[in-house]
Amino acid sequence: MKDITLKIDNKEFKFPVVIGTENEKGIDISKLRAETGYITLDPGYANTGSCESSITYTNGEKGILRYRGIPIEELAQHSDFIEVANLLIWGTLPTKVMRKRFTDLLTNNALLHEGLKHHFEGFPFDAHPMAMLSAMVNALSCYHPVLALPHSSREIEKAAAILISKIRTITAFSYKMSRGEPFIYPKPEFSYVENLLYMMFSLPHEPYEVRPEVKRAVDLILILHADHEQNCSTSTVRMVASSGANLFASISAGIAALWGHLHGGASQAAIEMLEEIHSGKMDVKQYIKMAKDKKNSFRLMGFGHRVYKNYDPRARILKKLSRNVFKVLKYKDHLLDIALELEEIALNDPYFIERKLYPNVDFYSGLIYRAIGVPKNMFPVFFAIGRLPGWIAHWKEATDINRLQIARPRQIYTGPAKQSYVPMDKRSAAISKN
Ligand code: CMC
Repeated sequence: MKDITLKIDNKEFKFPVVIGTENEKGIDISKLRAETGYITLDPGYANTGSCESSITYTNGEKGILRYRGIPIEELAQHSDFIEVANLLIWGTLPTKVMRKRFTDLLTNNALLHEGLKHHFEGFPFDAHPMAMLSAMVNALSCYHPVLALPHSSREIEKAAAILISKIRTITAFSYKMSRGEPFIYPKPEFSYVENLLYMMFSLPHEPYEVRPEVKRAVDLILILHADHEQNCSTSTVRMVASSGANLFASISAGIAALWGHLHGGASQAAIEMLEEIHSGKMDVKQYIKMAKDKKNSFRLMGFGHRVYKNYDPRARILKKLSRNVFKVLKYKDHLLDIALELEEIALNDPYFIERKLYPNVDFYSGLIYRAIGVPKNMFPVFFAIGRLPGWIAHWKEATDINRLQIARPRQIYTGPAKQSYVPMDKRSAAISKN
């Protein structure tokens, strides 16, 4: 490891360089303030490495995504969501024994405590499912206090199974509640994804069959969302965890961060944009013009990425998947044609070319959800189900006793300099207007 020399106020300071597996280089400035009196300023953290992590590798310039070293394309082709969850959390693909034990834990933890089920009644019927999900996951800590701060491998495995299994039940129940339909309970013989679809879409008085192509499509979507290193929600999970907060509370905070329209909420926003174009309010070209207008805060939803300056590998897989799902289901959606037109125009427009803006994971996922009947406000919920193993893996990594350190950034203060308190009768009209 060589050092980097920084010259500050005519004095030279040496800082160590940290080099990652794939030759990524970072300057370790943990002693910067102590030695120089300066801090770094990096709003949005675009140049800040918050940790060293061995979970996921991305290379935005080349469009690479790997979980624990395995390319996303290989996992998409050969694996399933539960196997990927094991890979992310434990660092290796599970053996048959590990897989069976985890599957049994998922089955045994699928139900919600009757007390927790009553929480649904406290929400208005049109409550956003992300609000419910975040609240319910936080509430899980009250029902599993011993596992809220898991220490041993067995405790972490059990807590992970509780979360991964129950998030699916909470999702299905919140959907049922929004429709005034009875809750459907999972079947132990069904796979993880089959049960998710069965609990959401079946009715007690009607036969219901999960189509294998639909099951595979959802499995694939969940795999593609399972981790993405230090994104906003994962960084939130790690930050909350750094204070010593429990696993459920940390994941609940991650869900809240994911909800925003610049993050997981973008899939819902992207479909709403396509719907608006379809309704005839504005055409594709007008939307592109609006996205380029610097006086307008509008952005093309499902486009651009902090890391990817190339085609998002997940979007590439989803684009292909959307075509396959539509074909199998004999489903026609004008929104797909609009999305393809939008992509074609944007990718040939100098504004998008210069800024290296490509479709991201949220551009095509919503079209697949629509085809299988998932309502728009549940898109970010499916994202959360997918991202959950990643959050758990990062919580586990961040709370490792050898690294645990509270996350507490600094700031450059720009408010008023020291001033005295002014009694009410001495305050001028100008001040009170502010
Ligand atoms: N439409 C129009 N212009 C854009 C877009 C967009 N979607 N994205 C970035 N730009 C422009 C931006 O205005 C800026 O232009 P200029 O250099 O002239 O000021 C330039 O590209 C660089 O953008 P940035 O804001 O510095 O990029 P960022 O890394 O801070 O933001 C982003 C990344 C994903 C928040 C942003 O691209 C965006 O708002 N996209 C739309 C929302 C979206 O699709 N979010 C999902 C992200 S992927 C999945 C996930 O993480 O949840």
